[in-house]
Amino acid sequence: MLTQTIREKAYGKLNLSLDVLGKRDDGYHEMLMLMQSVSLCDEVIISVSEGDGKIGASTNKAYIPNTEKNLGFKAAKVFMTELNIKNRDVTISIKKRVPVCAGMGGGSSDAAAVIRGLNRVMKTGLSFEDMRTLAGKVGSDAPFCVQGGTALASGRGTEFTVLEPIPSCAFAIVKPRFSISTPALFSKLDSVKLRARPDTEGMLVAIREGDLYGMARRCFNVFEAALSPRERDTVEKAKGSLVNLGALGASMTGTGSAVYGIFRTESEAYAAEKELSRVFRECYVARPAPALTE
Ligand code: C5P
Repeated sequence: MLTQTIREKAYGKLNLSLDVLGKRDDGYHEMLMLMQSVSLCDEVIISVSEGDGKIGASTNKAYIPNTEKNLGFKAAKVFMTELNIKNRDVTISIKKRVPVCAGMGGGSSDAAAVIRGLNRVMKTGLSFEDMRTLAGKVGSDAPFCVQGGTALASGRGTEFTVLEPIPSCAFAIVKPRFSISTPALFSKLDSVKLRARPDTEGMLVAIREGDLYGMARRCFNVFEAALSPRERDTVEKAKGSLVNLGALGASMTGTGSAVYGIFRTESEAYAAEKELSRVFRECYVARPAPALTE
């Protein structure tokens, strides 16, 4: 068998709303999140050749591990183990563009892209549903990233309903310098009394009615309440700047630290990004990305 190489795009995600409903018996938390994938993506190159089950991973960022801590590596391992494939070697090369440790699901999306790519190369015929099940063994955000688009996620974050696309808009995204440990933020949240929750139902209605303003003004993330005062101050400033620059709504995504604003048009988002880049070293513009089709 000759070496076969394919490319997959790994789209980032934003949480339009994020609620944590409580702690579960298995140690995870019960989530309710509106997820949206975005055009900002990593490039994942996967090569498969005859071999004895070796997996190799590399990225263009020196600080990302090339071991099982790399979710692309972990996804390949899960794929090969679950499908009992022992006679192939897999090499994964990831060009990172989605900000790292930002709450944008970059690692989870790389994992999902590896699963989609291996399914394609090896002609294993898995459905999106099958691939979501494999992705759930890699991490809680990975199942959403298999298909992307717009979805309401619940349970551990791995169960969801695919929704119609959100109204046309663009995102300006800033990534403050600090990064937050996901397990640490979950446990901090356990000791915080939440004074406000997202209006998830209202946001669903706004999306259904194509009401961009109604959707954007409901963007809300309960994790912001668990940040340290200094981190919260940075996030508040980023949100304030985005709104002053014309965002209809702004929020932190996931466990942070990236903060996004929703704009009517891409040119408005680019104008905001230009201003924000005076203060924030990492700034991006992205469009909503549609769900992949089978
Ligand atoms: O599933 P994943 O590996 O992405 O989760 C990382 C950590 O985040 C878990 O070990 C857990 O501490 C926390 N988590 C949680 N509840 C969830 C998802 C993640 O407590 N629904």
